[in-house]
Order: sequence, then structure tokens, then C-alpha cells
Amino acid sequence: LSSFSFAAQDQSPWFAHYNPSAASKWAAALNRAGTMTPQMTSEELNNVTYGFSSACSGMTGSVPRVGWDGLCMNDAGEGVRGTDLVNAYAEGISIGASWNAELAYERARYMGAEFRRKGVKVALGPVIEPIGRTALNGRNMEGFGADPSLAGKLAAASVRGLQASVIASVKHFVGYEQELDRMPIGGNPVSVSSNINDKDMHELYLWAFQDAVAAGAASIMCSYNRVNQTYACENDAALNGLLKGELNFPGFVVSDWSGQHSGDSAAAGLDVAMPSSSYWDNGQLVAAVNNGTLSKERLLDMATRQLAASYYVFGDITSSPPNGYGLVTDYTAPHPLVDGRDPASKPNRLQQAIEGHVLVKNTNNALPLQKPKILSLFGYDGRAQMVNSPSSNTLSNYGWAFGTQVMNASVDTLLQAMVGGKGDILQSATGGTLFTGLGSGASTPAYISDPFSAISDRAYDDDTYLWWDFKSYEPQVSAISDACLVFVNDVSTEGVDRAGLADPVSDSLVLNVAAKCANTIVVIHNTYIRLVDAFYDHPNVTAIVYAHLPGQDSGRALVKLLWGDKSPSGKLPYTVAKNASDYGQLLHGSGTPVNNSQSDFSQPSLFDYRYFQANNIEPRFPFGFGLTYTTFTYGNITVSSTGFRNASTSPPNPNRRIPGGVKSLFDPLVSVSVTVTNSGSVDAAEVVQIYLQFPGEKTHLLRGFRKIEIPHGSTQEFAIDLSRRDLSRWDVTSQQWLLPNGTTTILVGASSADIRASAILTR
Ligand code: NOJ
Repeated sequence: LSSFSFAAQDQSPWFAHYNPSAASKWAAALNRAGTMTPQMTSEELNNVTYGFSSACSGMTGSVPRVGWDGLCMNDAGEGVRGTDLVNAYAEGISIGASWNAELAYERARYMGAEFRRKGVKVALGPVIEPIGRTALNGRNMEGFGADPSLAGKLAAASVRGLQASVIASVKHFVGYEQELDRMPIGGNPVSVSSNINDKDMHELYLWAFQDAVAAGAASIMCSYNRVNQTYACENDAALNGLLKGELNFPGFVVSDWSGQHSGDSAAAGLDVAMPSSSYWDNGQLVAAVNNGTLSKERLLDMATRQLAASYYVFGDITSSPPNGYGLVTDYTAPHPLVDGRDPASKPNRLQQAIEGHVLVKNTNNALPLQKPKILSLFGYDGRAQMVNSPSSNTLSNYGWAFGTQVMNASVDTLLQAMVGGKGDILQSATGGTLFTGLGSGASTPAYISDPFSAISDRAYDDDTYLWWDFKSYEPQVSAISDACLVFVNDVSTEGVDRAGLADPVSDSLVLNVAAKCANTIVVIHNTYIRLVDAFYDHPNVTAIVYAHLPGQDSGRALVKLLWGDKSPSGKLPYTVAKNASDYGQLLHGSGTPVNNSQSDFSQPSLFDYRYFQANNIEPRFPFGFGLTYTTFTYGNITVSSTGFRNASTSPPNPNRRIPGGVKSLFDPLVSVSVTVTNSGSVDAAEVVQIYLQFPGEKTHLLRGFRKIEIPHGSTQEFAIDLSRRDLSRWDVTSQQWLLPNGTTTILVGASSADIRASAILTR
């Protein structure tokens, strides 16, 4: 197993830049693969390019004669999905809310080792797109939030963590921002076309993939949508042009499942078709080579990229345990017990769950709780669902969550909604507490620590009396409760966009409790943006927590936060508006015209906080916002910018390329340093955020961040480097990143709207 050492103290520069060993390691891997694939016959080469049925989400063909095992691929970004003896990690959106790249790295390292022990060679994650352009997108929870820099750094950390054990397949490339019309099915002859101009493509959508490739990503999954009218998985401009050309991606491109729509996808840059292929099977690529429509070099290249990925990550093309070792198709039948879990992952899993919570309202010192005498608990989301068993896995390819695990809807209804890609689903999972997203981003828990059981344990310690009603929507409330906790959720799934940003039934439940309880604390297990204006101003609603999707240690983490054993440290990775209409065109995807869906990504170009800034819309909670139990005082900032002032406008040595593109793009040109003092009375972590306002722009965008734990009464220095790419804009004419002339303002903030210090850069 290839591995590398990771020094926690050395994290900031480490995560800010590319993986320095990637280039030479790739060169060696490609060389070795390049000597193996010519030993395969054309038929064998053809066979390794598409999937065959197995217990894995997908399995490529093997060539035992030369020692090539093929690749077992399995979902997803939150843990090994749909099997037993694995853990459910916090969902992508919780990691986005943690703003913690080191945490993301450790999470991925533990997760990757689980994939490996279960015989999976390719983990189908992390998710970069959807990146949250569309507020109602049903899959936003799988990604890290609505910003390229945040997503890029967390994805890069995840790639490095996963690839300590398995190949990471970073998905979905590119422009995949709505579930509506994502597939050409159900009266819809083609998928939606995401129409993206060159500048936005580079600055908003390609950005985080560039970080992932620079981190060494060995696989990329192309998406279901079309990009500028051509399917992403047969898009020469996107795959050969941007990804393999400009970003110099050395690994293999795998199609999203059934995302291949023609045999021409081979020449356009697709290397592996999943889960099978009607365009490449039965020797069709051999025939294409023979009749001159596909070059033999390209057929070799398709296989070479897979083998190289394997050499790069595993050091070999034969590896143990064998493919699919811990996966079976029927978990109710007797099968070998293969435990993927490592008990050492426990503290990290708990920390993920903790850091994914964002406290957004806290009045009258409602939190942390002080040994309440009577605590009342309400809301369907407060206790676990009734079933979690392998036999509920009726939709094997979509995971347990689609069965009975979290949804109060029949499997048929859900499947119907998914296949049509347009149906409405329930907005809340009223069957029990929500801790994961649904669809391929669903995680598979070993157990569940739900809020009720964790709070019951705490009640035992503190001699608190609990009063609970998880069933009623108009519950009776004890007038002498110290506090009332209300648990609601906001569910979403792959395959369908959400119906709305708030659920009136849950809102009225909160209001019904607040009408009778002067200290009402709302906990929302939300998949993404969830509006709270229905109850935000209610004087009895004293605290609101966005709990996101914490994985199996949900309740345990919540108790640590509510009781103040830990201070909240999560910050919103998206903007919460006051009204759904504030998102304008960005609220939902486009489905017009009906038979040829088009989505114009320049209407508007900017999304999330930059859209709000550009249009002077005051959000309810800004991007990057989160409260805690202490106060932080920011000191002066120091900026060292000699490198920037003296730098050439265009990147030097454009021919010196690494995986990720031109190497000099990753050179640090500016270092920003700021001191922050924890001036309160409890320990807590702060996330310092660096935004840039480029010459002539009225909006600013995130380009760096760092999270550090600061003991109360002490001061920490946050040092954050900005690379040449961070400081550049994409120039459409010269097709490169250029440092802008004029004045760039560096804004140091505790959120996108809470700027504590600034400095000017001029050139
Ligand atoms: C379709 C999803 O879009 C993708 O993310 C997933 O990895 C595959 N299905 C395999 O389950």
C-alpha cells in the first residue's frame, strides 16, 4: 500500500498547493503502464474499457494473462455504500461547513482504508459538482458548498486522503448543476445542456477540479448533462481540451452510470464506460481501430491510463485484497464477514460530525445548556427510523436510504420520482432522524447515535428529567421546561431537485412549540440551504442550529455542542436568504424548452454570495457565517507581496507542466498573516477567510481560509498563502491566467460579510 507521511503542523502550505511528488510519480506510473498495455491484444484492450456486472457499483474487464485485475468501483463520498460492516461518515456538506482541510484529509484517509479492505479499488468521490449554483439542486449535499476555492481545497485534501489506499474518482465533470433533465429519459430526448462561457468555466467550474488533479486525482467521472450542447462524456473540448489538455490530467475518465451516449466518446476522451457499454462491447472498439475511425494509440491510451492510475496509487496492477472481496449481492444470505472498519477512526468521525454543525442564532445565552432540570424534546427528526437492515435494500444500486431507512415514502414513489427526474418528493424525512443524503451520496451506518439516545445518556449523567413527543405536530408542552429542543429536517436525493427551501409542515411544528415554550431551540438536519424566516424572529426561538448530515455519530456530536463540551466551529458553506425569491434564476434548474433543455450559466454568471453582493441582497445568514460560545478579536494583518509586485503578468515557464496544468500557477505570490485572539472564556476554533476584490469588481470572492483552535485568552497567528492562480483572472483572449493590473483588495473576514481587516495590492 502506498502511503506518505502527513505532518499536522505543516498543514497550511501543504494544502494550499499542488502535490509536489505527483508529477514524478505519475511519470513513473505512466512509463510502467506504457510497457504493459502493448502486451495486450486489441480485444483485451477493448475489454478493459467498459464495465461488467458484479457486486461493485462497477467493475472493468481484467486481463489475468498480464496480471491486470481490473477495477472494482464503488460509491461514494461518505463511505462505502450499500454493504455491511462499514461506517457512515459525515456528508460532503458537513465537511464543507467544517472549513477544515486537515479534517477532510483524515476523514478521507479512514474512508479510503475502508474501501480498500472491502475490495474496492476506486472510490466514487469526492464530489465537486454540483457546486451549488442552483439552490434547489437535489445533490448539493454531496459536495462541499458553493465556492470553488472551498470545494477545491477540501476536494484536494480528500483526494490525498483517499489515495493513501484507493483511487479517487472525482465527480461530476463538468457543469452538472441540476437533477432536472439530467438524463435523456421519460419523454426527454436529451439531457440538459449547461451552457458555460470560457471565463466562467475556468473561474467557477473547472477551478476545483484543477485542485483535485494537482493533488494527484487518478480518476475523474464525467457527468450526465451536456456541456455547450455536447454530452459531457463525449465532449472533446471538455475532456481532451480542458481536462487532459489544459489541466494535464494523467488518469482515466469514467462515465457516470449510463452517461455514455455514443461510440465516439472514445475519441472525445472517455476512457471507461460504466456500468456497461452498448457502444464499445463485443469488440466494437477493435472494429473501430480496424476501420480507421479510432487510432490504435488511443485504444492503448485508454487502457494505459487505467493501469497508470493503478501503479500511481497501489504501486502495482495486481493488488490485494481482490476486487469486490467484501461486497456481495445478497446480504441476507450467508457470506464471508469482512469488516471494513478501523476503530481508530472514531475520534475523527465524531469531530466531522461536530464541526459540520453551524450555530446561527443564540440569544439569552440559550446555549450552551446548563444542566437543565426539565428538558423537552419534539419533532420527528429526534429519534432513529424504525428499520436499518440489509433486507431493506430493495434498490441495490441506490443504497439502503432509498428503502425504508430514512424516508417516509414508498420505494416505488421514490423510484418513480427518480426515474422521471422531475417528480416531487417529500421535503422532510418524517420517518426518523436524517444523518445522510439519499441516492449515491447515501451512507451506510454501522449504528446510529440519534439525538434522543445521546440526550438520554446525558440526562442520566446530569439527572435531567426528559419530556418527549416525537410524534405530534402540535405537542403538549410543559410550562416549566428549562428548554424545548425541536428537531426537524430537510431531505434531498439524487435524481430529483428539491421542491422548496423550507417545509411549511416543519415550520408550523416549530411555531407550535415556540408558542408554548419561552426557550425553543431549533435543530435542523438539513441537506443544503434551508430558510428559517418563518420562525427566525419569534422571541421564543432562542437558538437555531444547522446540523447538516453528521453521519452515524450525529446525536453524540450534537450533545457535545449543546452542552458546551465543544464550542461550535462550523460556518455556512452557502448563503441563506430571507426569501426563496432572493435566489432569482438560481433557485431552480432550467427545463426549457421541454424537449431540449438549456441552462444558460451566464444568467446570472455569479452564484451564491457573489450574486447576493452584486445585487445588493441582504441575506439572512451570509456565506462563511457561524456563531460560537466565545468572541474573537482580530489583530492587524501583515501582507508580504514582493512576489506579486515583481511577478510577470502571465505565468512563467508555461511549458513546465504538472498534473493540474502550468506549474507556476501554484507558486505562492502573497502571504497574508493575521492574529486572532480568543477573548472569551471558552476554547474554540476560528475560521479566518481571505476574500479578494479584483480591480473594477464590486464583489469579492474567497481565495483562502484556515481553521485553528484557539484556547481562551490566547492568540494565534493565521498564515495563509495566495497562489498565482488565486490572484489571477482567466483571460479569454490569450487563454491563460493573468495577474490583473490595478488595485486588488485583500479582505480578511470572519464571514463573507464580516470583514475584520483589509489590505491593498497594487501592480
Ligand atoms: C450515478 C451517480 O450520478 C454517480 O454519482 C454514482 O457514482 C453512480 N451513479 C454509481 O452509483
